[in-house]
Amino acid sequence: MAHVVVTRPLVEGGLTELRKDHTVTVCDPPEGAARSEEELIALADGADVLLTVLADPVTERVFAACPDLKMVAQYAVGIDNIDLDAAQAHDVVVTHTPGVLTDATADMAWALLLAAARRVPAADDYVREGQFERWETTLLLGTELADKTMGIVGLGRIGAAVARRALGFGMNVVYHNRTRANPTVERQTSAQYVELEELLSTSDVVSLHCPLNEDSRHLIDAAALGRMKDEAILVNTARGAVVDEAALVEALSAGSIAGAALDVFEDEPDVHPGLMEQDRVVLAPHLGSATTETRTEMVHMCVESIRARLSGAEEIPHRAV
Ligand code: GLV
Ligand code: GLV
Repeated sequence: MAHVVVTRPLVEGGLTELRKDHTVTVCDPPEGAARSEEELIALADGADVLLTVLADPVTERVFAACPDLKMVAQYAVGIDNIDLDAAQAHDVVVTHTPGVLTDATADMAWALLLAAARRVPAADDYVREGQFERWETTLLLGTELADKTMGIVGLGRIGAAVARRALGFGMNVVYHNRTRANPTVERQTSAQYVELEELLSTSDVVSLHCPLNEDSRHLIDAAALGRMKDEAILVNTARGAVVDEAALVEALSAGSIAGAALDVFEDEPDVHPGLMEQDRVVLAPHLGSATTETRTEMVHMCVESIRARLSGAEEIPHRAV
């Protein structure tokens, strides 16, 4: 019997299959926002498998302190909290949950974009606060999206799903990627490849869908924000640190971009106080994959990967490293 440690509770019932053959320990959520390396090491003591989330710092120290560890199953598509080189050096398999959260995350990007463009949070406040006394011709005017240009940074699965939705809304789509997408994806999304500078200067909406790594950290800095149109809206459902949040607050305050729709933050769960004060900013607590369907499917994928690893299979499904 192997020991599987799950760092926080998942959707009900998802681990039943795993419990038949293995010891499964589900930890309470941490007191604060995240666990320290020491806390994670204490939880992982003697574990063969760790099932982790983004807030778990799976570092070299954790691998070194947990010699029994055979696998880290990440309950997310992004794996920027895991030191992948250290995982490889310690012969630990890392899996994640790509694919199943693509539509959920693309929907969230669109929900936030529409909310920012049409000022839905302010409208909701207005009604609840009892201010709706008459229909007015200039009340809460927003921005039209049809015939505008959406710039997608990172045309992977999620970026492509956002682009397909943009077609339905009558937008033109351009994209930038480190390597150009294959012709089928370009055709399906009608997205045109451009350099990042051109994307920033021509897009009315810039939506971020790249993973966080050393190349993408602060990709959207003061200079990048300076290239964007005054009317542009920035959408981030990727990782907070792709954007220099302080520079974003400055750009919004200076009116050098019009708004932002943010599901992720540089120092989650802390949000830059300057963002809280902005009227044309819509904020969400990292809900990209948060649908019942997707979160349930994500557990199934983790369980599938764990069972394969613990049965000694050669091929581990959903393997990242
Ligand atoms: C969520 O942010 C994920 O990477 O799955
Ligand atoms: C994530 O699934 C991506 O490739 O965009």
